[in-house]
Amino acid sequence: MTKLLVTGASGLLGSNLVFEATRQQEVIALSHTHPVRFEGAEVVRADLSLAENVMRVIRQFSPDWVVHCAAETNVDRCEMDPERAFLLNRDIPRWVAQATRVSGGRMIHISTDAVFDGSRSGYQEEDVPQPINVYSRSKLEGELAVREEDPRAMILRTNFFGWSALDKMSLAEWFLAHLEEGRSCRGFTDVFVKLLLVNDLVQLLLRMMESECEGIYHVVGRDCVSKYDFGVRLAQVFQLDEKWILPVKVDQLGLIAPRARNLCLDTSKISNMLDMEMPSLEEGLRRFYELKQRGYPERLKSLIGEQNNEGN
Ligand SMILES: NC(=O)c1ccc[n+]([C@@H]2O[C@H](COP(=O)([O-])OP(=O)(O)OC[C@H]3O[C@@H](n4cnc5c(N)ncnc54)[C@H](OP(=O)(O)O)[C@@H]3O)[C@@H](O)[C@H]2O)c1
Repeated sequence: MTKLLVTGASGLLGSNLVFEATRQQEVIALSHTHPVRFEGAEVVRADLSLAENVMRVIRQFSPDWVVHCAAETNVDRCEMDPERAFLLNRDIPRWVAQATRVSGGRMIHISTDAVFDGSRSGYQEEDVPQPINVYSRSKLEGELAVREEDPRAMILRTNFFGWSALDKMSLAEWFLAHLEEGRSCRGFTDVFVKLLLVNDLVQLLLRMMESECEGIYHVVGRDCVSKYDFGVRLAQVFQLDEKWILPVKVDQLGLIAPRARNLCLDTSKISNMLDMEMPSLEEGLRRFYELKQRGYPERLKSLIGEQNNEGN
């Protein structure tokens, strides 16, 4: 049985990955401030911002695969605290890559579509990234650090939505909360993305582990839509009134960090490698809806304990 260590196991991607992977693999779920409990997985808490903790945990478990999901993902917080952003998004990935290579395992590093400046559509893996804020720069430097430490590592540039274990909401959950409560919210009409349902991303990740993939892959959905249109399509699938979503331009909000406008990446490389089309937005939203009907969000949330700061 393959041994898989998932960092960021309390986060959006990590929790959904652990939840799914425990059916097929021996899983170690690593979180920091949020204790997690997953049936069938070993759980461990550690502060990875100390290099010795990274080395210790990876040496202790010696996993076949490490999927590194832990990060500082708050774009505006990164802008306000660049030192922390580079520690979490560049230095930790470097240490994880180093420790994984030394222990003889393989690494999948999760990066972002936002390494590009968003001035055009259809970026391919070999296009030169031009990040426009601290978060994106720290993520790009994380990619470079991982490649330097381990050229065989897989780097996935992605963007996703889904059900969260934590109270922090994904874009879809945030729209839904407003729609269900009849509160108005704003959707950007000039920021374009190809969002993938996190559960679909998890399936792709598990397939990629079985393949001979190495290097960078763009792993996003099939359809390029504005964040406003995403909200509207979500409202339609949930049969809620889309009037609560107000169309706005991103500059109207005075956000701290600048945002890239068009992050619709080209996915031919991964599609050819796995011989499949990326899931459509309609498929993703329908599955997101069905998961709710089946009580999936509640099951996911029950895996997280009270927040405290006990991590070592
Ligand atoms: N969400 C998106 O739409 C999106 C889009 C593009 C790319 N990505 C990338 O996808 C990856 C996963 O994102 P996500 O949204 O799933 O993340 P998330 O929900 O924000 O979760 C972040 C995770 O990082 C962990 N973490 C933070 N600091 C840590 C530390 N010092 N030591 C150990 N763990 C630490 C947190 O643990 P605790 O909560 O236990 O402290 C949490 O599990 C990230 O690399 C992100 O850049 C995300």
